[in-house]
Amino acid sequence: MEEKIAKLLAQLTVEEKAALSIGANQWQTVAIDRVGLPAITVSDGPHGLRRIADPEALLHESLPATAFPTASALAATWNVELVHALGEALAEECVAQEVDILLGPGNNMKRTPLCGRNFEYFAEDPFLGGELAAAYINGLQSKGVGASLKHFVANNQEQQRFVVDARIDERALRELYLAGFERAVKQSQPWTVMCAYNRLNGPYCSQHARLLTKILREEWGFEGFVVSDWGAVYDRVAALVAGLDLEMPGPQSRRVQEVIAAVEKGTLDEAALDESVARLLRVILRAQETPKGQGNFDVEAHHALARRIAGEAIVLLKNEGALLPLEAQGSVAVIGEAAQRPYIMGGGSSRVNPTRVEIPFEVLQAQVEGVEFRYAMGYRYEGGLDEGLLDEAITAAREADVTLIYVSPNPGTESEGYDRTRIELPQEQVALIQAVAAVQPHTVVVAHNGSAIAMSAWIDGVPAVLEAGMMGQAGAGAIADVLFGKMNPSGKLAETYPLRLEDTPAHTNYPGEHNTVRYGEGLFIGYRYYDEVQRGVLFPFGHGLSYTTFAYGEVQLSATDFRDEEGLRVSVDVTNTGDRAGKEIVQLYVHDVESRLRRPYKELKGFAKVALEPGETRTVTFHLDARAFAYYDPAHGAWIRESGTFEILVGSSSAEIHARATARMESTQTLPCVLTEWNTVEEWLADECGAPLLHPLLEAIRGQIQRQFGADAERITERVWQHIQDRPLMSLPAFFGEHVSLEEQAVVVELLEQIRAVREG
Ligand code: BGC
Repeated sequence: MEEKIAKLLAQLTVEEKAALSIGANQWQTVAIDRVGLPAITVSDGPHGLRRIADPEALLHESLPATAFPTASALAATWNVELVHALGEALAEECVAQEVDILLGPGNNMKRTPLCGRNFEYFAEDPFLGGELAAAYINGLQSKGVGASLKHFVANNQEQQRFVVDARIDERALRELYLAGFERAVKQSQPWTVMCAYNRLNGPYCSQHARLLTKILREEWGFEGFVVSDWGAVYDRVAALVAGLDLEMPGPQSRRVQEVIAAVEKGTLDEAALDESVARLLRVILRAQETPKGQGNFDVEAHHALARRIAGEAIVLLKNEGALLPLEAQGSVAVIGEAAQRPYIMGGGSSRVNPTRVEIPFEVLQAQVEGVEFRYAMGYRYEGGLDEGLLDEAITAAREADVTLIYVSPNPGTESEGYDRTRIELPQEQVALIQAVAAVQPHTVVVAHNGSAIAMSAWIDGVPAVLEAGMMGQAGAGAIADVLFGKMNPSGKLAETYPLRLEDTPAHTNYPGEHNTVRYGEGLFIGYRYYDEVQRGVLFPFGHGLSYTTFAYGEVQLSATDFRDEEGLRVSVDVTNTGDRAGKEIVQLYVHDVESRLRRPYKELKGFAKVALEPGETRTVTFHLDARAFAYYDPAHGAWIRESGTFEILVGSSSAEIHARATARMESTQTLPCVLTEWNTVEEWLADECGAPLLHPLLEAIRGQIQRQFGADAERITERVWQHIQDRPLMSLPAFFGEHVSLEEQAVVVELLEQIRAVREG
């Protein structure tokens, strides 16, 4: 391959290389027939294929494809094998429809529930998001179709996405926003990464050398090419220099000319252009290894897979009095326009043209024998409060044994391009739930949504709630299976459901102003925030009930003292203590008992989904590597493995920890001294290499005070210590002034010189 690339590069002219760096049309790269180089085709993603037959068209109806559950629902499965299987199925559709690269998955963090694209993203936690993104990419690429991991990075709101500068401190960036991408890149080597539209701490992501070259390539070892989001490039040459290989869409002859002119003028090194083109060639040639377009995909099998995933994504949020599962008997009122016009996906570039869509009310009738189903609309999307529809629904509910209410935001509320403005359901739906629940104690709410919704206005009156997410085309059957007990729900929330929007971590900083959004909450998003402020939530991250019950044994550790490089093995027995088969998602969080820098109380570092027959026990084992205990220290520009005690917390949600154990990690990491004269005395003393350097000076000062103040020296020393603790070293000579002899001043001066020497040398 490398030989072939070198040969091609040698044959290509500067004009051809420049042309290659910009799309030929909306969805294809440039073919260079003269050297036998074909074009490759890309298509959206992420939860289904949006193959537009005409490559010149941006918004045409796409070819029929399977609309799988969206990423938000995929994440609720916490099932990496299933997500891998989804990747494989997507690849089959790509191969059938002549697509070389699928534009997904999206792996931005859920910083605020308002982000219009949260349905396209996995989680509020980078470990969960990273694992699922890697599984998706590995599945897809195992069948010869490339992925495009997007939107790199910090596209966590749609509001002003083309201009907003996300101001994120280095720790939050590394530990949250980059971490999910890092995990996915390292575990799956996506063929491409798509840069985000927004800016990051100044530069546009499309022109961000530190992001696209230093971090992505040099630190993480990314080998593929970077593609722009559609129209995200402002300065083509600057973007190329920064590491952006392919600008989409094309054609843009003016841009091609700019690249050629830059090479001629010497502002763009031809060698840099060559490297970039080589990255494109590698992927283009690799794509040729899997012939595309010779046939159909298995529509039925993919529909069945979509249903399986939808089933595992359903989260049983509440089930008072074990109302669910329902018996297949008596009469059931089915209410809500969402039961006839299901809310299966969000808006924007991820819209799929489904091969078919299951209608919940029809599916219930067809699938469940022995029940008399009756439908009442109850509300109309965008319809406002309609007393007639409400009365009809109340009557239907009153006359039935059980009532199912299907609810969702109005279609179009969750979409690319803009954010939501609220997290409540439309007021007519809230009124409907309240009115129905008042007359029918056996009411089940089935909610379809792609991001957290508020439920406080009605949930106390409703015994059972199913979070059915954005289920894709086959969700209705899966919901029926869960409602009537053919399937035991096993999904868990991948994001916290807050009580109110005002409680959410980014509330005071979102959406920013003057084209700038400050991520003022830093490391504390999602459960990290709610833990920190000890604020109640509606449903915590990781929550989800089952029709059976599980018991957790003790946490077993491979050692109570371990070296960082060995890592730690953690095992726990989980038993199905109920009388139905079920699946439990076992979650492992790490709590750093003491650390130099402030850390979230706990962080997810492992999870496993286990299937258990009634009475069955299985041992779940996790391997924690050193990174599971590390934090990022911007002063060192490195992940720090600090010696100390860590608590391992194992539970069924972020709020329900059933077992814990403690272990001590011994770090083998040696850190260079990064102190400067601008660090405070306290920081110097807290530092392993700083403290010994500073001690002679402090001793000298102590001696001076002793000589001057005799009996009072101890009291004075204590006061002096208090005063100098938070002073930078630099200010000590001025602080002591003439009270400190020249000799002692010399110690400080010498110290400062040493520091300079270390820093410069
Ligand atoms: C979206 C991307 C998408 C691209 C191509 C952009 O507007 O942000 O996610 O892949 O369009 O449709």
